[in-house]
Amino acid sequence: MKIGYYQFAPIFGEVEKNINRVRASLSSVDADLMVLPELFSTGYQFVSREEALELSEEVPTGPACRALMEIAAEKGMHIVAGLAERAGDRCYNSAVLIGPKGVIGTYRKTHLFFEETLWFTPGDTGFNVYNIGTARLGLMVCFDWYFPEAARTLALKGADILCHPSNLVLPNCPDAMITRCLENRVFSVTCNRTGYEERGGKPRLTFIGKSRMVSPRGEILATAPTDGDELAVVEIDPLRARDKGLNVHNDLFQARRPEMYDLK
Ligand code: ACM
Repeated sequence: MKIGYYQFAPIFGEVEKNINRVRASLSSVDADLMVLPELFSTGYQFVSREEALELSEEVPTGPACRALMEIAAEKGMHIVAGLAERAGDRCYNSAVLIGPKGVIGTYRKTHLFFEETLWFTPGDTGFNVYNIGTARLGLMVCFDWYFPEAARTLALKGADILCHPSNLVLPNCPDAMITRCLENRVFSVTCNRTGYEERGGKPRLTFIGKSRMVSPRGEILATAPTDGDELAVVEIDPLRARDKGLNVHNDLFQARRPEMYDLK
C-alpha cells in the first residue's frame, strides 16, 4: 500500500486556488492514500466566527469535497483532508475521508487549539476508524496529538494508520508522533503546512512544515522540510500495525492494565 502526504502553503481565503493547487499536485501521484493539511482549502487564521462560517463548506456538497471526490474517483485513491465544515450555524474544524465512491467519514476536531476555540464548535464525532479494505484508518487533527488519548482510542478501535491533517505551530509534534506510533504500534501520516499567516492585527503564526510518516516501530519513513512543498509517498504493509507484540512476554495491548489507570 502506498501512502503519502502533500505539504504546501494554502493561501488564506483563496479556496478555489488552494483546491486547484491540490488537484494539479495530485494529478501525477501514484498512491493509495494521500493526506492533506488541516484547513487546506481556506487557510488557518480566521479573525471572526462570521469569517469562518463564510469560508466553510457543507460536507459533502462543498467545493473542496466535490473536488476531492473527483480526484479520488479519477485516481482510485483515498484522501484525508482537513477543512472548515459548516453545519447549520456551527463551524467545525473537520477532516474528511474520501474514497473513489465519495465521502466515507467526517471527523470533527476534538481538541481545539488557541483561537480556534473562538471560531469553531468542539467536535462531537468522537474518534472513529474506517476500514477501506487495504487498511483501517483513524482520523485525528493537529492539536489532538497533544492528547495521547486520541491516538490511543483510534489504535484500540483498530486503526492501522493515523491520518493526521495538521497546521502545526509548536515544535514538538513531529517527534511526539514517533512515541504515538511506538506506544500504539501504528503507522502515522502527519501532513502539515508551511508559510505563515498574520491577519487582523493578530500575532504571526508560522507553520513548521516537517510533515512526517512513521512506522509502528517508530521508524521515520519520511520527513518534509520546514519550508517549501513536498509530496512524499512510501510503500508500507499496513498489517504490520496489527502485531502489538514487543517480545514473547509483552503484547502492548494485552499488557495494558486499565483497572490501574483510574482515568476520568
Ligand atoms: C493546531 O491544532 N492547528 C495547532
